[in-house]
Amino acid sequence: MNMVLLTQNVSRRFKDIEALKGVSLDVAAGEKVALLGHNGAGKTTLFRVILGFLRADDGHVCINGQPPGSRLARRDVSYLPEAVAFPKMLTGREIVSFYAKLKNADADEVGSALEKVDLAEAADRRCGGYSKGMRQRLGLAQAIVGNPKLMLLDEPTSGLDPISRQRFYELIGEIAGRGTAVLLSSHGLSELELKTDRVAILRKGEVVANGSLAELQRSANLPIRIRVRSNSDHVESVHSRLGGERVNGESVEFDCPRPDKMDRLSVISQLGKAVSDVDISSPSLDEVYRYFSSDDADRGDAT
Ligand SMILES: Nc1ncnc2c1ncn2[C@@H]1O[C@H](COP(=O)(O)OP(=O)(O)O)[C@@H](O)[C@H]1O
Ligand SMILES: [Mg+2]
Repeated sequence: MNMVLLTQNVSRRFKDIEALKGVSLDVAAGEKVALLGHNGAGKTTLFRVILGFLRADDGHVCINGQPPGSRLARRDVSYLPEAVAFPKMLTGREIVSFYAKLKNADADEVGSALEKVDLAEAADRRCGGYSKGMRQRLGLAQAIVGNPKLMLLDEPTSGLDPISRQRFYELIGEIAGRGTAVLLSSHGLSELELKTDRVAILRKGEVVANGSLAELQRSANLPIRIRVRSNSDHVESVHSRLGGERVNGESVEFDCPRPDKMDRLSVISQLGKAVSDVDISSPSLDEVYRYFSSDDADRGDAT
């Protein structure tokens, strides 16, 4: 695979804070990778190291074979910082033109970037009047110009409503579809809505998980939840047979380790007419994220 970003064993400390501890994370051309972690996990620090704003104490970063901050690397990387603020008096077009000039991009890229992020109509209005979603899309337009090979987006969807967020991920999908490697940070798995190819979770400066959502769900190996609805006359006997908690006087719920699922279902089916329905729910994305990012998690072999 053509790796645009290679990050090997990167460490960075601020006095006694180890902001990054041996971080290794690669992103291939056309791949969308989410970097997740609580506040203070090290996401922004990693971006700043990749951009060459900060020097790593240890380890290696390479962007298309070039060191961070070098002229060639700067040409290939674009960045949407956390909480970006544009001068309110300028129009969307003026702002994107400014960034296009900084990157030596063609002037006609400005219009097409604004079009790609659905801002063509609002392009000549002052951005002070833009909604939060429009401002984030303007940030994305500024990151598109110059045809970057690697795009770094720091918490680009925090504070967006679900529709704006969904549109934002669609746009990122289109950009990656043209071969750009995208690394975006976020502080919740459910925010991602399954829109990235891979997820890396940072916890206190360390990568504690790195894989597709399905791989993360598997390696977390959290129990599934089974809810058995019974005919009300039988709830007592169903409960005594299965254990767990009684809910609403007609259901019994319990957690079940994945390997035991079929055995438990066979016990449930033996209850015959006493059972009217069965629901099985897998752990939510938030539960998987909590598992990997909490301090007391026993993560086993997660990466
Ligand atoms: N310039 C800095 N000086 C001192 N400490 C810093 C600096 N930048 C980040 N840190 C610390 O490094 C850790 C990681 O911060 P950061 O990368 O901003 O996390 P995130 O973006 O995941 O919220 C935090 O403990 C933060 O306080
Ligand atoms: Mg941050």
